[in-house]
Amino acid sequence: MSLNSANKPVIALVGAGPGIGEAVARRFTAEGFVVALLARTEDKLQTMVQGIDADYGKGTAQYYLTDLRIEDSVNSSFKKIRSDLGPVQVLVYNAGARRVNGRSILDTTTEEFENFTKINLFGAFWSTKCVLPDMLAAEKGTILFTGATGALRGMPGLASFSPGKFGLRSLCQIITREYQPKGIHAAHIIVDGPVDGKLIGGVRRRQWQREGAQDKLEDIDSYLVQPADLAQTYWFLHIQPRSAWTQELDARAQKETMFSKL
Ligand SMILES: NC(=O)c1ccc[n+]([C@@H]2O[C@H](COP(=O)([O-])OP(=O)(O)OC[C@H]3O[C@@H](n4cnc5c(N)ncnc54)[C@H](OP(=O)(O)O)[C@@H]3O)[C@@H](O)[C@H]2O)c1
Repeated sequence: MSLNSANKPVIALVGAGPGIGEAVARRFTAEGFVVALLARTEDKLQTMVQGIDADYGKGTAQYYLTDLRIEDSVNSSFKKIRSDLGPVQVLVYNAGARRVNGRSILDTTTEEFENFTKINLFGAFWSTKCVLPDMLAAEKGTILFTGATGALRGMPGLASFSPGKFGLRSLCQIITREYQPKGIHAAHIIVDGPVDGKLIGGVRRRQWQREGAQDKLEDIDSYLVQPADLAQTYWFLHIQPRSAWTQELDARAQKETMFSKL
C-alpha cells in the first residue's frame, strides 16, 4: 500500500477512457476513493491522472497499462494495484469494443470476433477473479459492469460486439447468484443509447452538425447520455443499502429513439 498511506478505499476502473470511465472515476474520488485506472494508452492515462490529482489531491489516481485481451496483463496489473493501493473494494468493468458501422457475420473476421469478445467479456472474467478473494475476505465489495443495448438483443451488424455483451450480462448474474450471499453486490448497467463522447455520440453530433440540427445540438443532454450524469448511477449502486440491492438497471437520454426498441 505504498501509494495509499491514508488507507483510502480503492476503486479499479477497468477500461478508463475520457467518457464513462473517467466520469465514474471522478465520482468515486470525490467521495474519498483512490482510483486505479486501467487501459492501454499511456498519454491518455497520464492526462487523466494529472486532472484527477489536480482536482482531488496528489496520489488520488494511479494508472496501470493493461491489455484486457491478455490474462497475464490483467493479472499483473491487479497484483501491482494490490501492492500499491491495497485491496480493491469497487471494480468497475467499463471496457467495450464495437464497430461504429456494423458488419455482417460473413464480413466479420474470426480475429475481430475474438479480439472484441476478449475486451467485452474475458477481461471482465479475469478482473473479477483478481478482486473476488479480497472482497470475500472482507465480506463486502461492489462489482459494476457497463453494458449496452447489445446486451439485450442481437442487431444486424453487431456480431463481434453483442455476444460478448450478452455474456457480460450473464457473468454479472452469475456473480450475484454465487457471491451476493457472501456480501458482494454486482450490478449490470445497460447504457441504452449513445454517450456524449468521441465515438457513437461523436458520430451523432457530426451528423447533426451536417444537417444543421441546431435544436438537438443546443439540447444535447436530451439526446446523448452525459458521462457525469451516468456516473451518479454507479455511485448510487455502490451506496445502496444491502436490503435493497439492484442487480440490473438501464439508462438512456430523454429523447433517445432506442427507447422504442425496448
Ligand atoms: N460510447 C457509447 O455511445 C456507448 C453506448 C452504450 C454503451 N457503451 C459502453 O460504455 C463503455 C465505454 O464507455 P465510453 O464509450 O464512455 O468509453 P471510455 O470510458 O471513454 O473509454 C473506455 C476505454 O476502454 C479502454 N479499452 C478498450 N479496449 C481495451 C483493452 N483491450 N485493454 C485495456 N483497455 C481497453 C480504452 O482505452 P485504450 O484504448 O487506451 O485501451 C477506452 O478508452 C463500453 O462498455 C461500451 O460498450 C458506450
